[in-house]
Amino acid sequence: MVGQPREIAVVLLAAGKGTRMKSRMAKVLHPIAGRPMLAYPLAAAEGLEPARVIAVVGIDAEVVEATFSGRATFVRQEERLGTGHAVLQARSALEGFRGDVLILYGDTPLLRTETLREMFEIKVATRADLVLLTAAVDVRGIIVRDGDDRVLRVVEAPDASPEELAIEERNTGVYLIDAELLWKTLAGIDNRNEQGEIYLTDIVERAVSEGRRVEAIQLEEPEEALGVDTRALLAQAEAALRRRTLNRLMSDGVTIVDPAMTYVDSDIEIGQDTLIEPGCVIQGDTRIGCRVHVKPNCTIESSELGDDVVIGPFAHLRPGCRLGRGVRIGNFVEVKNSTLGEGVKADHLSYIGDADVGAGASFGCGSIVVNYDGIAKHRTSVGERAFIGCNANLVAPLTIAPDSFIAAGTTVTKDVPKDALVVGRPKQRHIEGWVSRRRRAGDPPAKPGRKSPAKPRRNR
Ligand code: UD1
Ligand code: MG
Repeated sequence: MVGQPREIAVVLLAAGKGTRMKSRMAKVLHPIAGRPMLAYPLAAAEGLEPARVIAVVGIDAEVVEATFSGRATFVRQEERLGTGHAVLQARSALEGFRGDVLILYGDTPLLRTETLREMFEIKVATRADLVLLTAAVDVRGIIVRDGDDRVLRVVEAPDASPEELAIEERNTGVYLIDAELLWKTLAGIDNRNEQGEIYLTDIVERAVSEGRRVEAIQLEEPEEALGVDTRALLAQAEAALRRRTLNRLMSDGVTIVDPAMTYVDSDIEIGQDTLIEPGCVIQGDTRIGCRVHVKPNCTIESSELGDDVVIGPFAHLRPGCRLGRGVRIGNFVEVKNSTLGEGVKADHLSYIGDADVGAGASFGCGSIVVNYDGIAKHRTSVGERAFIGCNANLVAPLTIAPDSFIAAGTTVTKDVPKDALVVGRPKQRHIEGWVSRRRRAGDPPAKPGRKSPAKPRRNR
C-alpha cells in the first residue's frame, strides 16, 4: 500500500569466483580503498535499514562469513549454476517474509544508498511489483521494451538477436521485487539458454506474463553500476571511491592540493582547514584534526592526529599512533603504535615505536626507540619535557622520567630519574699534533682499494 513502509530484505549475491581477477582469493574480498569489496554494496543496502540481509556465498565462504559476521545471514551456494540459482539459495532463510526483496551483487562497490532508495520510491509511486535498475553500460543483460516503452524482458547477449544487441539500455543486476512474486517467478526456471545457467533475469518476462507491473529506472551516472570483474576495473572502482572521499573532505573544508595525487581510504575523517599536500597516502581508520599540515609524501595508517599537528615531508605513521595537539613529525620519521602528548617534536630521522611520550618531549635527529629485542616488543615511556639527544638509543622496556636530558649518542638501557642528565658514550680523546706528524711522515694518500694508509706513530 502506498505510504505504508514495507519490510525490506536484501539478497547479496557473492558466491562467484571472479575468474578474470586471476586471484586465489574470492573477488568480493579484494580490498578497495581500505575495505573489502563486499563491504560497499553491503553498506549501501544497510543504509535502507533492512529487516534482513542474506548473503549468498560460495568461494572462500568461511573467510567471507568471518569478515562480515553479524552483518548478514549467510547461505551457501555450493555450485555456481547461475544468478537465479544463487537467489534460490536464500529462499529458506526468507521463509515467511512478505515485504520487498532487494537483490544486488557483491561486486558493485559504487552503488549508492540514494539510488537504491529511488528504486523504492519508484516502486511505491508506480505501484510496480518489480523495479529494475538499468544503465547504458556494456554488460550482458539487454532490456527489451515494447512500443509503449514498457519493459518486456531481459535477454542475455549470447541469446540475443542482432537487433536486441544494438539496444544500449542494460540490466545492472539490481532488482526490487515483492517477495511473493520473486519466489513464484523463480519456481521452475530452467537453464535452457546459451550459457546453460539458471538466469535470474527470466523473472522479468515471467512477471510481465503474470500481468504484473515492471518498471526500470536508468542510472544517469552509469559508472555507479560498475561490476568489478578485473584488476583494471578494481583500480577504476578505487579511483572513483577515492574521488568521492576527497570531494566529501573538500566540501567539509579540507584543502587537498592535488586530488589526483592524494590517496585516501573511504573512512578517513579530516577536520576543517587541514592542508594535505601531494603524494600522501592516508589509510585505514585514520582521524585527522583541524589545521593540520600534512606535507608531501607522507603515509598515515590507522592513526589519530590532533589539531595543529605538522607532519612530513616523507613521514610514516604506522597503525596505532595518537598524536596530541601541535605535535611535529619531520622528514624520515617513523612512528608506530605510540602516543605522543601535546607539542612533542621529532623533526628528523627518528623511529618511535611502542612508546608513550609526555607533552613537550623532544627527539633529536636520529634518535631511536629500540622496541624489539629480537623476540618481543617492549614499551617505552618518556616523561614530559624530556630531551632525547641526537642519535640516542632508548632500549625498551624503559622509563624516562620527566625533565630528564639524554645526551647525544647515549644508549639508554636503565630507567632514568627525573631531572637527570644521562651521558653514556666513550670519552673523547685529543691527540695533539697528530695530523701534521702524519703529513711529515709522507703517508701516501688513501687510494680506493687500498686497505689503509700507514699509521703514524702513536703519541702515548
Ligand atoms: C548478470 C545478468 C545480466 C546483467 C549483468 C550485470 C543474469 C543471467 N545476467 O550477467 O543480465 O547485465 O549480470 O553485471 O543474471 N553469482 C553467484 N552465483 C552464480 C552466478 C553468479 O553468486 O551462480 C554472482 C556473481 O558472483 C556476481 C553476480 O552474481 O556477483 C553476477 O554474476 P555474473 O556471472 O557476473 O553475471 P553476468 O553474466 O555478468
Ligand atoms: Mg558480471
